[in-house]
Amino acid sequence: MAEIVSLAEAVERAPGRLVLPSYERPAGVHPPLDFAGYRSTTLRHPKQPLVLLPHRLTEVTGPLLGDQLITGTDSDLTMQRGGEPQGQRIIVTGRVLDTGGRPVPDTLIEIWQTNAAGRYRHSREHHPAPLDPNFDGIGRAITDAGGRYRFITIAPGAYPWGNHRNAWRPAHIHFSLFGRAFTQRLVTQMYFPGDPLLPLDPIFNSVPDSEARQRMVARFDIELTQPEWALGYNWDIVLRGRGATVFE
Ligand SMILES: [Fe+2]
Repeated sequence: MAEIVSLAEAVERAPGRLVLPSYERPAGVHPPLDFAGYRSTTLRHPKQPLVLLPHRLTEVTGPLLGDQLITGTDSDLTMQRGGEPQGQRIIVTGRVLDTGGRPVPDTLIEIWQTNAAGRYRHSREHHPAPLDPNFDGIGRAITDAGGRYRFITIAPGAYPWGNHRNAWRPAHIHFSLFGRAFTQRLVTQMYFPGDPLLPLDPIFNSVPDSEARQRMVARFDIELTQPEWALGYNWDIVLRGRGATVFE
């Protein structure tokens, strides 16, 4: 169990130092750190009780990254190489929201994913599926004034992962968000609706709450879909509060 330190107690432990209220972490929706069905968690979950440190300015202020670091092709994963990648072109868009549905502008979102064949471009990836010379599977975007992000990419493939016999990950896109503050850093996965592998996936099902699991699944959107060009998926990400998106 994590030690929960009240604001008053934090002040008492660090006399004379500025201590600010902690951000709320939604309870009951995130997966346990050690989950039997996801075998490798037993090797890397913390063995000691967590120590919650009092929040000071560093924790409650945001990373000032600046949008000048992001180039036009960072959010279009189909335009980063000399030619177009193989696979189904998709648009993935949505808003980043804070408690109460307030949009979070100017936050950095980074994504990574497999190519259409289910293969990551990574030195430790040896799954016998082809690499695509026109696809790296890495993207970046910064949310606009309305908290909206938009990526153009290729539908990722399922891949085997050796967790158990005939284990295949459902197609997914990994997301990392910085939020308004360092303590809001969120790493999660976005899934696709109707994927037959979802009920079989220990990572997806390590999230105990069924509604929270569904918040990781994007919504197919025919209005966002562009004729003759790309399928559209909508996925909002909620950083905290009762409707928070599940963190890894
Ligand atoms: Fe993955």
